[in-house]
Amino acid sequence: MTTPLPDWNKVAEKFDLWLPHLAPATDALLRALDAAPHHRVLDIACGTGEPVFSVIRALGNSDQIVACDGAWGMVAATAAKAARHGIDLACVHMRAEDLAFDNESFDRVVCRFGVMLFDDPTAGAREIRRVLRPGGRVALAVWDRLDLMPTMRWCIDAFRDYIDADMLPATERINRYGDPDALAELVSALDLAHVSVTRHTLHYRFPAFDDYWSTLIASGIMQNQLDAVSAERHGNIKNAFARAAETFASDGELAIPHGYIVISGRK
Ligand SMILES: C[S@@+](CC[C@H](N)C(=O)[O-])C[C@H]1O[C@@H](n2cnc3c(N)ncnc32)[C@H](O)[C@@H]1O
Repeated sequence: MTTPLPDWNKVAEKFDLWLPHLAPATDALLRALDAAPHHRVLDIACGTGEPVFSVIRALGNSDQIVACDGAWGMVAATAAKAARHGIDLACVHMRAEDLAFDNESFDRVVCRFGVMLFDDPTAGAREIRRVLRPGGRVALAVWDRLDLMPTMRWCIDAFRDYIDADMLPATERINRYGDPDALAELVSALDLAHVSVTRHTLHYRFPAFDDYWSTLIASGIMQNQLDAVSAERHGNIKNAFARAAETFASDGELAIPHGYIVISGRK
């Protein structure tokens, strides 16, 4: 069954809208990565530049840092952001499954919310291990189970009566590491020493539901599903989301919890 993921080239321009909400995952990754200024660091599936720009800020230089992504649009967005901020950053278009780097050429490899989307995560994990120096560290963040990701649940529930099952969000990929067996397979492919697997929660925070909805629409992340539904039904979809979101509204804020997992270790 083919289930659509967002077209990362198309959403690149607006992906920054999510960065403030995802920032806590970067903090967790930086702690797990334990990078130092002399380290050569690779950010895989860098999107529009996180966590790579946070790594650069933490280390104080970009000399030995490389960002790569499998979508040209994302690479271009990161490169443009680096140029705007006067940062000399190597940004390359590259799939995680085929890293064009020498064996053992990085001290640190980081990836935020990318691995579960790879076409072949096991091949990506093997590549991560291959390019890592002995003693080097890796830190990856992936989404946890579907029931710990309410916005994904809302999307499925809101659309399921209107679109074919194969057009619903690809939760079997997005939430694949909520499954202990899949997680164990990933950890095994990384083949690290002193592996740490920790569970965390971040919150998408908005003043009110309409602010969340505007971000969702503007970001284009749900465009595949919206395009499959006639425009007059978009109001029903919005109402279904709004009803579901009520659980997480209080004291003038909508705070939607999202569970994620940080996997880290040393080669
Ligand atoms: C959810 S975004 C995360 C982006 C960024 N790391 C962040 O956390 O803001 C997922 C990214 O994974 C990239 N991606 C998906 N499959 C990939 C692959 N096989 N190799 C490299 N990048 C991939 C997409 O192009 C997209 O930029």
